[in-house]
Amino acid sequence: MSFKVENLFSVKDKVVVITGGGSGLGKAIAEGFAANGARIYIVGRRENLLERAAQEVGGDIRTIPGDVSTKEGCVKIAEAVKAQETHVDTLVNCAGISKFWRTYAKDPNDADQVENMLIHGVEEEDFVNTNKINVNGIYFMTTNFIPLLRKAQDPNVCVISSVSSLAHQRTMSPLTYAISKAAINHLAKLLAGRLHPMKIRVNTVCPGIFPSEMTGAATGKHQYAVGLPAEKAAMRTTAGRPGRPEEIAGPVISLSSPAGAYINNAFLTVDGGRVMSMSINDDIRMPEKTFTF
Ligand SMILES: NC(=O)c1ccc[n+]([C@@H]2O[C@H](COP(=O)([O-])OP(=O)(O)OC[C@H]3O[C@@H](n4cnc5c(N)ncnc54)[C@H](OP(=O)(O)O)[C@@H]3O)[C@@H](O)[C@H]2O)c1
Repeated sequence: MSFKVENLFSVKDKVVVITGGGSGLGKAIAEGFAANGARIYIVGRRENLLERAAQEVGGDIRTIPGDVSTKEGCVKIAEAVKAQETHVDTLVNCAGISKFWRTYAKDPNDADQVENMLIHGVEEEDFVNTNKINVNGIYFMTTNFIPLLRKAQDPNVCVISSVSSLAHQRTMSPLTYAISKAAINHLAKLLAGRLHPMKIRVNTVCPGIFPSEMTGAATGKHQYAVGLPAEKAAMRTTAGRPGRPEEIAGPVISLSSPAGAYINNAFLTVDGGRVMSMSINDDIRMPEKTFTF
């Protein structure tokens, strides 16, 4: 074994499948692996987005148009990879959606507005559709990739969660999204336990605020115009800014590399210190008398 960084963190020749690899965090993770000699499969519903991402990222990258929201969709994705590979080293479950409140309380302290938002801002389908992608998708992708993962030397699954699963937010992140992310924190642990006999490691990476289609609008390869609430929230972190593409790619790569080979059932926040600043009063103007400094 070598302690040289190029060996310790090597993902050269790994076969990596990344859902949601056409944009945002998934695209950044794809570029991280591709730049370091892995073969990447990026998965998403929009074929044109995947093709553009593949062109921009470069390296040994292939696209698989697919939908993780159904078991059938996940089976098809696994079959498409199986047609080209004998094994998969790493599966990154990054695809996710966030359905914004249908009716929003502009003032989070106005009882009437909040009541209206809670009653009329969410429909049953918002829970169902969010969970279909954010929760079920991870279960069906992971389980249908077991046969390919079992054939790898050190197989691992990375689940991309969110800090919204850990703390209160009132001005950002709909409740349906946060609940789905909290569910996958436990799903990842349950999967780690069930995949124990196959020696497949399952870890959770929990990002804070990163520019993406979810937090902004695409303006370049890894550039997104981040919305105001997310930008302000990022300013309140220790880092004082949103995360950079390489700062999400690095932790995920390390879990797939020899440096991460002993990490299993772990939970890693990658948030610049965001969780420390989250509470029900985060982003909300408070009465002067409640301040100490
Ligand atoms: N950005 C942040 O600040 C942040 C913070 C914490 C956690 N996260 C998590 O990071 C992950 C990536 O999100 P992002 O921020 O990078 O947002 P994003 O740019 O919107 O990326 C989400 C990706 O998921 C794909 N996707 C959505 N539904 C899918 C489906 N049914 N089947 C296959 N692919 C699907 C989308 O492509 P198609 O629409 O073409 O399918 C898209 O490329 C998500 O799980 C999100 O919850 C993000």
